Amino acid sequence: MNHPPSDGIAYTGGRYLPLAEASIPMTDRGFVRSDATYDVAHVHQGRFFRLDDHIERFFWSMSQLRMSLPLDAAAVREILLQCVARSGLREAYVQMTCTRGVPPPGSRDPRACTNRFHAFCQPFVWIATPQQQEAGIAMVVSRVQRIPAASVDTRVKNFHWLDLTMGIFEAYDRGALVAVLVDGQGQVTEGAGFNVFAVAGGQLHTPGHNVFEGMTRRTVLELAPHLGLQARVGPVSVVALQAADEVFITSTAGGVMPVTRLDGHAVGSGRPGPVTRAVQSAYWQRAASDPRCTAVDYTAFEAGACA
Ligand SMILES: Cc1ncc(COP(=O)(O)O)c(C=O)c1O
Repeated sequence: MNHPPSDGIAYTGGRYLPLAEASIPMTDRGFVRSDATYDVAHVHQGRFFRLDDHIERFFWSMSQLRMSLPLDAAAVREILLQCVARSGLREAYVQMTCTRGVPPPGSRDPRACTNRFHAFCQPFVWIATPQQQEAGIAMVVSRVQRIPAASVDTRVKNFHWLDLTMGIFEAYDRGALVAVLVDGQGQVTEGAGFNVFAVAGGQLHTPGHNVFEGMTRRTVLELAPHLGLQARVGPVSVVALQAADEVFITSTAGGVMPVTRLDGHAVGSGRPGPVTRAVQSAYWQRAASDPRCTAVDYTAFEAGACA
């Protein structure tokens, strides 16, 4: 089958190929044991946003899981740039993954595996489409508890997604788009691929524990003082979320997304609020013009050829 490069390009086993044709060995522990880490960056208007920060975080995650690659950050960077250049995509979702690898026959020793690097880009993925963001999205507080950081360090980007995935099902079952999970003490954590912010009294509040420290969250925390907003990282109870003037979620897959319904009730005015709108537009301005943007050079693959 012929797959156009714009459907996605992958890099695995040391070569580039159409994403639809890329595969990993079935006994790779990344597949059979969720023994993997990854990171996701995005390309907006042909430029990566915070590429080096994503790569740095990816290497940190690998070190936490006792993984290593024969590639350094510069080599990973080059592969990601190549994937996007070969795809021709100007708006892309770009994932880098390290899997533990395949154990020798009869072994279950993770130390005996050679860790493997895989990457791919595909058309941008939105948790909430721009149209959905315009109206604001519906969220539920899930009955599923987020896996505790004491069991799996949530700061390490990982494949332990079953709690988050069941949250997605629950959101759909309850007529919402997304679900936020709580911890064992009833504090808000995060949802499938996103962090959460509550706006109260003109201040931003985002949970500090049992969460992945998202790059979009980091960007919002950096932008806050420029917008005259105070930001507080710390416990956010479900009650505080319900009482918030505004709520938004953040992700590489969609940016800053207004939540206008929570558990079937309007958040604030029931419309995307002014603070959320200000943060949202500052975020996309940053993503388009930040000095930490890296332009993709598409010229070598302008015909869209996939080597
Ligand atoms: C569990 C979880 N929380 C939060 C996020 C948001 O992180 P970022 O802003 O880096 O996309 C993600 C991203 O995939 C995630 O998987």
